[in-house]
Amino acid sequence: MDEQQIIDGLKPICQCQGIKKRRFLEHIAAGITSVAALKAATGAGQGACQGKRCTPRITELLSALDSHPASISQ
Ligand code: FES
Repeated sequence: MDEQQIIDGLKPICQCQGIKKRRFLEHIAAGITSVAALKAATGAGQGACQGKRCTPRITELLSALDSHPASISQ
């Protein structure tokens, strides 16, 4: 893992709950690939905004990985 991947993994996906991209990538690598299942596994979407901010980010992350599956690195 290079420095850029480490920095990228520290980007927040769910700001309310303080859940970073890396945590989502770990679950995706383990086979969890739906928005609902990722939210359940990470606790995202249960913060003050109730997922209004993070749900689109999770969807974007899954779409990006669909296009570039090799980018699933932790
Ligand atoms: S950003 Fe995830 S619940 Fe608000």
